[in-house]
Amino acid sequence: MAIKIKTSAEINKIRIAGRLAAEVLEMIKIHIMPNISTATLDRICHEYIIKKQNAFPACLNYHGFPKSICISVNDVVCHGIPNEEEILQENDIVNIDVTVLKNQYHGDTSAMFIVGQSTIHNQRLCKITQESLYLAINMVKPGVRLRTIGREIQNFIEKHHYSVVREYCGHGIGKRFHEEPYILHYDAEDGGVILKQGMVFTIEPMINAGDSQIYRMPDGWTVKTKDHSLSAQYEHTIVVTHNGCEVVTLRKDDTIPRILIHKN
Ligand code: MF3
Ligand code: CO
Ligand code: CO
Repeated sequence: MAIKIKTSAEINKIRIAGRLAAEVLEMIKIHIMPNISTATLDRICHEYIIKKQNAFPACLNYHGFPKSICISVNDVVCHGIPNEEEILQENDIVNIDVTVLKNQYHGDTSAMFIVGQSTIHNQRLCKITQESLYLAINMVKPGVRLRTIGREIQNFIEKHHYSVVREYCGHGIGKRFHEEPYILHYDAEDGGVILKQGMVFTIEPMINAGDSQIYRMPDGWTVKTKDHSLSAQYEHTIVVTHNGCEVVTLRKDDTIPRILIHKN
């Protein structure tokens, strides 16, 4: 199957969905504090997406996922299911992953939040993970081979003595939640994919403080690190432009520009 090149009309719709997804993360930030349950955070996001954004939380019922957003705390790598018994505590590191469906198009983004007072150790993992996403975004332009992006993420992460999860990857996005191309966050065979203007995909490295191995819980969703080390992830939805890219899920607290331009 060929990778879809999106029209400017499609990109406009993905831009809208992407902005909404980013706004959910901006909205939820002030609610992340000690003693709140992840189920409460899910409810707040659900109401906001449905009522304020007049949109739909794409994770809800996606392959049977039971909640509206994914919340992955500490050693949970991804796909954490919000629940009433999970109560946030000081220094927890929390990934919130939001996918909004609006006018038939998706926008997908996630970020880390640290609860209350945090240790340098926890801050550093989140910061390095975000920097790995930023360095990948900075490479995106027509003509670049996908594989080189994965290789640079892996080099950067391993230089900092962390590890890259192998089992999950970024993905093309649009009318479908997940489609080609699949963006690996490490050096691996990519089928020779070269980026072209009009491709739209996510980059979403999952980074472990310890070993890269993971396992899935009996609930069929929650993924944890095998060694119970902490895991962090950041995700943006990116459009390849003629001379760089556009980050359609950019938030106010991001420290890269929305539009990246490369002269050569
Ligand atoms: N938002 C996730 C991603 O980045 C996918 C979550 S699927 C779910 O691709 F079913 F777990 F919600
Ligand atoms: Co994604
Ligand atoms: Co996501």
